[in-house]
Amino acid sequence: MSIHTEPATATDRLKITLAITGASGSLFAVEMLRALEQDARVRHVYLVVSPSALRVLAEEASLPGRNQFVEHLLGAPSSKIVQLGHEDIGAPIASGSSPVDAMIVLPCSMGTLAGIAHGIAGNLIERAADVCLKERRRLVLCVRETPFNLIHIRNMAAVTEAGATVYPVIPTFYNHPQTIADIARNYVHRVLQHIGLPQPGAYAWGAEKTS
Ligand SMILES: Cc1cc2nc3c(=O)[nH]c(=O)nc-3n(C[C@H](O)[C@H](O)[C@H](O)COP(=O)(O)O)c2cc1C
Repeated sequence: MSIHTEPATATDRLKITLAITGASGSLFAVEMLRALEQDARVRHVYLVVSPSALRVLAEEASLPGRNQFVEHLLGAPSSKIVQLGHEDIGAPIASGSSPVDAMIVLPCSMGTLAGIAHGIAGNLIERAADVCLKERRRLVLCVRETPFNLIHIRNMAAVTEAGATVYPVIPTFYNHPQTIADIARNYVHRVLQHIGLPQPGAYAWGAEKTS
């Protein structure tokens, strides 16, 4: 299975799908939204938020319901982030005929992982991920659970075999983060680098020794 990791150029103007599901780690999703909003190479962001994600966001980020969700997260309206309904299987990203360059599920719950691993396509997130796999597009699943049971591990193996990248929400410490936001930002930088969108100011091990 080919995974495309070449950097996007400034003229590429990508379309990215971001799905937020009901695993812990809302802050990471907020940082991802901010990074996509600010990245001029990204033309359009399709955002899908599961009902469970809204429940977790309310718990972890004190966010209100669905209305003005993006505006509340970013502190301003966005011209390129469009939120789609979790059950709207008529949305553009439900069809392979609609071009999308990459899809990120951050955080990815074990429930959504299972749905994708088994091709259930029972809601827009599962269907859009299914489309990415069948069209051989980049799909990054930022799973979050601990500990894993054997079902989780088998599902991670299945999506990897189908072409997705399992990118667990696990912090790094060798970059000496000072805040939780630093940890989330570094993680988001790594995921974006993985889909060909290296970020300015991203930490790179050894860079200070070679520059
Ligand atoms: C506060 C909170 C934290 C949760 N954390 C996780 C988690 O880290 N990983 C996980 O797989 N599920 C977690 N869950 C459970 C999922 O939200 C639940 O399985 C849900 O059905 C997932 O649905 P979704 O995949 O459609 O978002 C959590 C639930 C709550 C309320």
